[in-house]
Amino acid sequence: VWLETQHFHKENIVYDDEQKGLKKQIVIYFSHVVAEDTPKGLAAQKFAELVEKKTNGRVKVEVFPNGSLYSDDEEIDALLRGDVQMIAPSFSKVTELIPEWQVLDLPFLFHDYSDVERTFTGEVGAQLLAMLDQKGIKGLALWSNGFKQMMSTTHPLIHLDDFRGLRFRIMPSAVIEKQFRLLGGEPIAVPFDHVYRSLEKHEFDGQENTISNIYSKDFYKFQPYITISNHGYLGYAVMMNKSFWESLPKDIQQKITEAIQETTKWNLRESQKQNELQLEKMKKNRNVYIYELSNEEKEKWKKKFAPLYQQFKEEFGDKLLREIQQK
Ligand code: LMR
Repeated sequence: VWLETQHFHKENIVYDDEQKGLKKQIVIYFSHVVAEDTPKGLAAQKFAELVEKKTNGRVKVEVFPNGSLYSDDEEIDALLRGDVQMIAPSFSKVTELIPEWQVLDLPFLFHDYSDVERTFTGEVGAQLLAMLDQKGIKGLALWSNGFKQMMSTTHPLIHLDDFRGLRFRIMPSAVIEKQFRLLGGEPIAVPFDHVYRSLEKHEFDGQENTISNIYSKDFYKFQPYITISNHGYLGYAVMMNKSFWESLPKDIQQKITEAIQETTKWNLRESQKQNELQLEKMKKNRNVYIYELSNEEKEKWKKKFAPLYQQFKEEFGDKLLREIQQK
């Protein structure tokens, strides 16, 4: 089927042999950059299974993990061209397309998972997804990975001075860039699938990411000082090429919507569990040094980051922010 699928890739149709070419199968290519055994990887697979089941095999979702099809700096363009039908980039990567999405990169925006769930599945989430429409993208859902932690090669990042002069790998996001500049660091945007190679070449000294990404890509082997700061949140915009979406029969759209809603609920629980489990695993590793930021230390970070909120409000107003923070 793989060769056939590839052959018919432009139309995303493969012919069902048993039906003697009479019945068309709809194929959806879903490309992402992380490992399979991660919150996004598992959710993509779950979604594929649900869609296939709900449509009795009429729709097949082919998942391509690990950036095997496109790197994260290529995947949005690939989606817009229609070379893939689905992707789920992190919020930061969407900010290049829609700057208001920077709100989701503000540090300490979410206090806990219930804040996350309310935002992702409620009115604000729907508003954010609707903004994608004008760009030719059907926003399907917001998926979760987890809270981001800080890590470094040489020493624990605890006090504000600990960041000074270090080079940090970041995702492309103006807020994250400013966050590291406020700390006196030098942020460098690097696509996710280049991070491992950059680490091997010692191209940066620190980064922020979730436990699941740190664990599944072995980043801790190069940067073993991990501070549990929960300062930022890594989530994903699950998107489909809009003209492809509109070309789908109504009943198929309905099934896909059901599948995405079920997957989103599942992903919110599973992502949390997976990050907690992998943190426990890393705690048992004697070569990894995990430090949990105290509330007092956290308050100092928050104070330092206050200008980011001010700047966001000046640029985009405070409507979205107030809705997320329920103020
Ligand atoms: C990153 O670039 O660190 C993340 O966006 C990767 C991902 O998709 O989880």
